[in-house]
Amino acid sequence: MALSIALWAFVVLALVWRLSRIGSRERSLPPGPPTLPLLGNLHQFPTEYTRIQFSSWAKQYGNIFSLKIAHGTAIIITSPKIIRDYMDRHGVSTAGRPSFTPVNIVSGGLNVAFRNPDQPWKQLRKAIQMFLSKEACAKHLPIQKAEAIQLVYDVLKRPQDISAHIHRQAVSTILSTVYGTRSPRFENSLASEFTTFEHGQEVLFEPGAIPPIDFIPLLKYVPARWAPWKQKCLALRAQYQKIFFKLRDMCESRIRMNKRNGCFLEDVMDQQEKLGLTPELAAAVGANCLEAGSLTITAFMQTFVFCLVHHPHVQREAQKEIDELVGTDRLPNLEDFERLPYVQAVVNETNRFFPPVPLGAPHMSTADEMVEGYLVPKGSTIFMNYYGIYRDPDLFDEPELFNPSRFLSSEFGTKHGADDTGFRHDLHFGSGRRICPGIYFANTSIKMSVLNLLWAFNFESTEKRQRDPQCPIRFDDFAPGLATGPKPFSCTLNVRSEQHANLIRAEYVSARSTFEIFEHDLSREEADFVANW
Ligand code: HEM
Ligand SMILES: *[C@@H]1O[C@H](CO)[C@@H](O)[C@H](O)[C@H]1NC(C)=O
Ligand SMILES: *[C@@H]1O[C@H](CO)[C@@H](O)[C@H](O)[C@H]1NC(C)=O
Repeated sequence: MALSIALWAFVVLALVWRLSRIGSRERSLPPGPPTLPLLGNLHQFPTEYTRIQFSSWAKQYGNIFSLKIAHGTAIIITSPKIIRDYMDRHGVSTAGRPSFTPVNIVSGGLNVAFRNPDQPWKQLRKAIQMFLSKEACAKHLPIQKAEAIQLVYDVLKRPQDISAHIHRQAVSTILSTVYGTRSPRFENSLASEFTTFEHGQEVLFEPGAIPPIDFIPLLKYVPARWAPWKQKCLALRAQYQKIFFKLRDMCESRIRMNKRNGCFLEDVMDQQEKLGLTPELAAAVGANCLEAGSLTITAFMQTFVFCLVHHPHVQREAQKEIDELVGTDRLPNLEDFERLPYVQAVVNETNRFFPPVPLGAPHMSTADEMVEGYLVPKGSTIFMNYYGIYRDPDLFDEPELFNPSRFLSSEFGTKHGADDTGFRHDLHFGSGRRICPGIYFANTSIKMSVLNLLWAFNFESTEKRQRDPQCPIRFDDFAPGLATGPKPFSCTLNVRSEQHANLIRAEYVSARSTFEIFEHDLSREEADFVANW
């Protein structure tokens, strides 16, 4: 009797001890905020604006710190040098992705950015790289250029709707190049249908936005009626199938009717067997490009416009440079960009000021690795805190100010004497094996749009609120989300002269022949719009 009580007491104590270890930080891990039994740091994990909490923890605990999420571990890196030494140099063992159930539900497991590097991932990534290679991008150039002209034409006609114009342009460019069909206007179009879907998804996907179902798998079994995240995922899944299967089918039927227009999905269909793609995978190739490519470019462009609206002297400086090189007898072109150091600095500063994917996409380690004297265990979720790097006062003078000139005095805009080891211009595009395959495509699109807008317009705020002239933009001007930019803002863009306006109109008319190739599937309303716009 006494023995069995002792035994029971022992079992209970052992269990309590084991449970009490859950959530506690192993001594070999990088430091981090104090933990609670079972929860670890779960109770402190932000539910939005994760980037801000991460950056303030980085100040407190260092440029590599850890969080315990129950028995799981998250590592947050806020240093270009550690990104280089660990992520880039251990590309294979850092190429994993933490499991993220919501994305798998919505995409049927075929979102390349969230998939572990297995066979389907390789097939998808290979197909996507084919679409985004330098050579392939040369083929996309005419439509990218034409869409950058429609951007300024749209703004000329309806300046206060710049935000919708930017969305339309980004989505329509990828729709045309991938699926061979475009959206000449935003309202009631494929572009707006996709954007609605994408927004629903983005809000759900920010780290911390939903319960930690992938750290505590039991939560996955909570029925949908008590788990709003599940209902949202299922609704998004239905939208996903409707949009992307429709786009694939449209392309298929154009092929059948001998109306090819050279879009990427035609190549994919032709080579389905060689690439090892099922029809479901073929639809996913385009879905991935649209999802990864449009919101990021949009986010960049919105940030760019927002920053210029609130920094008129930057506009004037950039326009002076453009006017001297380009004048008013033609629109700027890509080659001009190389000869416009201040405009380049504006683009670089926009990326620094608010990188479109502030925390990147989380990786997962697939092997134990010593990093800076700490153990990063296999299975850790790894965040690269670009936002925190770019706002680090040890690296940048007055990091909260938008100031392109910083890029004229040092290559990465860092302050005098700062250690810029590990910096590269594409840092915020990711690292190692998972680095963004769309850098080249994005680069071209952004350069053309930025040049056209700066050449053509003066950007003006139409807000009533008074802003601090010393520091007009604050962190809460930006929206939460995984890929994100400023919250909706009001502004107007005034064309700089009638000469500029006339040139834009003429260029739009000549761009029509490039557009027509991708306008086989327009609705009646869209066709009417095109005829009258
Ligand atoms: C300003 C524009 C863009 C930014 C800032 C951006 C940023 C990123 C980042 C941070 C990642 C995660 C990298 C990592 O895991 O370390 C990523 C992945 C990805 N991006 Fe981009 N991106 C942009 C444009 C594009 C475009 C235009 C496309 C395609 C049309 C694209 C396609 C992808 C894909 C497919 C992935 C997933 C790669 C993988 O997980 O293997 N991106 N991007
Ligand atoms: C801006 O970044 C690009 C890469 O995107 C780089 O080639 C260029 O040198 C940078 N320009 C300046 C002025 O820092
Ligand atoms: C993007 O454009 C800049 C400036 O033209 C160039 O220096 C840089 O190498 C480009 N980056 C990529 C990845 O193409």
